[in-house]
Amino acid sequence: MSPQPQAAVGAPMSRVDGHLKVTGAAKYAADHDIDGIVHAVIVDSGVGRGRITGLDTREAQGRPGVLKVITHRNAPRLAYRNDPDSSNPPGALLKAFQDDRIRFYGQPVAVVVATSLEAAEHAASLVKVDYDAQQPSTELSDAPPGVPRSYERGDADAALSSAAVCLQMTYRTARNHHNAMEPHATIAHWDGDRLTVWDKSQWVLGARNEYAAAFGIPVESVRVISPFVGGAFGNSMRVWVHSVVAALAAREVGRPVKLALSRRQLYFGVGFRPRYEYRIRLGSDRRGRLTAMVHDLRSETSSYETHGEATLAFGQMLYNTPHVRQTHHSVPLDVNTPTWMRGPGFSTAAFAIESAVDELAYELRVDPIELRLRNEPQEDPSNRRPFSTRRLRECLTVGAREFGWARRDARPRSTRHGDWLIGTGMASGVYPTARAATQAWVGLEADGTALVRSASSDMGPGTYTSMTQLAADALGLRVCDVTFRLGDSTMPPAPAHGGSMTMASVGSAVQDGCDKLRRQAVRLAVDDEDSPLFGVDAGEIVVRSGRLHVKDDLTRGETYRQLLTRNKRARLEANGSYTPGKARFSMYAYGVTFAEVAVDRRLGLVRVRRMLGVYDAGRIISPKLADSQALGGMVGGIGSALLEHTVTDFRDGRIVNANLTDYLLPVNADIPDLRAIYLEGQDQEAGPLGVKGLGEVVHVGVAPAIANAVFNATGRRIRELPIRAQALL
Ligand code: MOS
Repeated sequence: MSPQPQAAVGAPMSRVDGHLKVTGAAKYAADHDIDGIVHAVIVDSGVGRGRITGLDTREAQGRPGVLKVITHRNAPRLAYRNDPDSSNPPGALLKAFQDDRIRFYGQPVAVVVATSLEAAEHAASLVKVDYDAQQPSTELSDAPPGVPRSYERGDADAALSSAAVCLQMTYRTARNHHNAMEPHATIAHWDGDRLTVWDKSQWVLGARNEYAAAFGIPVESVRVISPFVGGAFGNSMRVWVHSVVAALAAREVGRPVKLALSRRQLYFGVGFRPRYEYRIRLGSDRRGRLTAMVHDLRSETSSYETHGEATLAFGQMLYNTPHVRQTHHSVPLDVNTPTWMRGPGFSTAAFAIESAVDELAYELRVDPIELRLRNEPQEDPSNRRPFSTRRLRECLTVGAREFGWARRDARPRSTRHGDWLIGTGMASGVYPTARAATQAWVGLEADGTALVRSASSDMGPGTYTSMTQLAADALGLRVCDVTFRLGDSTMPPAPAHGGSMTMASVGSAVQDGCDKLRRQAVRLAVDDEDSPLFGVDAGEIVVRSGRLHVKDDLTRGETYRQLLTRNKRARLEANGSYTPGKARFSMYAYGVTFAEVAVDRRLGLVRVRRMLGVYDAGRIISPKLADSQALGGMVGGIGSALLEHTVTDFRDGRIVNANLTDYLLPVNADIPDLRAIYLEGQDQEAGPLGVKGLGEVVHVGVAPAIANAVFNATGRRIRELPIRAQALL
């Protein structure tokens, strides 16, 4: 086959769904409306641990419009079948109204269903609950540690005791909430034993399986629909309890039910990035070559599930350290189960390790970039596998050049403009390249337009757009003649839209399906005596703007429309699929973030002045969307570094800043000039598209780059996120 000309891929295309989004026409979960819909409002627990001893729902039940108040006392027992396909953390799922136990502050204790939202809200306020309350355990340092995950190579203790330089630090990160604009919402509709759910979901097939398991029905009886997701960053990878509550309520009242969490409830009702304590000891020689690292981590999880994230890999593979020992204790607390949030595990590890390496560089008076270059491994030290591609050196050198690193004064507090202390810092980031089996369906209509479907999601990276670009080039169509659809569990299966794997996985299946369809059309033409392409070698034919022609002879050809109409074919169809091969390589996307900050020496206020990210993420399919990922990742990183902090009242487990006023997030005024550079090239091992994933690596090195810049500016080493003004006073 002749390779198709590349026209849409690589072009800075705007989002195909942009118009729908800015005009409000895109339907998010709660925007759907169906006949006879009623409204549900959750009553959540006002204590952080204990038992429900009394429930009085009479007043609520008596209000006009109220259909039912459901609590653990009158809720049916649900199947909660063990779902082998679930990717939920180990432990027992939080079940909807199945017992009287309170496991965290804000846990649902009742749901009110009424004919209007207002009636449901008012009635919910009238439900009286008595508790036998106990002191919840919410502090990482108070809780007894369980059994750790661990890793060891070499003899770290011996290497540390003989190291020329030995440093020991403890870093702490705050709990962060995703705070997506779209609240979590579910509309559930039963038709007999069949359940249809409009949901906020990054993974409609995973959600389908979870609903089926909860209600003990076949997966074929559940359909999950989620065409638009208004931001997620990981918190819509699984079904949270409120969604099962919605489906339960719909079954109980025999009507479709809509349930949306309030902004306050979003801090209790869904997962979050867990808090960490990260203790590091590192040893090196005088030239800054790392000889040993010991990492001891503690992070929070719930009392009933163990949330795990890949926090250890970063410390194992980033530097060529012969001796490494790691332990990670997941500490059960009286909180809702945490979940993945952008760059899960890696962003947290990067803050600790990339700060520690900066501390080492300062201690030895070695430039931090030079120190990193001295510790670059030739192969993955954790498994001795070759890297598919690892261009971190290039990221460091290109970044240094573009950022103007050579002009930096490494002495802390050396640059001052009036009251502002100016400093620069940098940090590396990595994120694993994951792929998963995916299928896609492609149909080409006789009018020359194409439809492509895969049960993926688009929480913001632009799946709709990038898949349209890929399909357009592979089919030889203009992008305006291609429609990509996603977000329905009846579509060909796609993996969870997370882990930066959508482009490599879904993209490869789309490419495969479109290639197959194009070949079908070419075959039809060269075998058709009435076609101007009759008898031409199929390998000589390309398709452009819906017209098949001989590669070197534009005049000889015909359009899809002519071909299909003449052959009386209403449509051509093809199924695309992608199955990742066995991993023989160590595959990661790499990045380096550079930051310049100004710190007010009297107020402790930190302003980021500029930021640059340089990424080795393989081939870039859609450069404008890539920028939206990279700049967005930097914004998120500025949030984690300087502002974001979910604050828990240890007395009762209440989150005290459960709103967008008190939970600080970066706004436009906090965001400086941001720039992203992508190293050109592709990763052949990462799949047919050569992409390594971009959505998470762009977040990973941001917070430590800022912390390192703050040290350079002020001489103060802040080992706790977020970096607050009071820490710098
Ligand atoms: Mo991502 S944290 O896997 O949505």
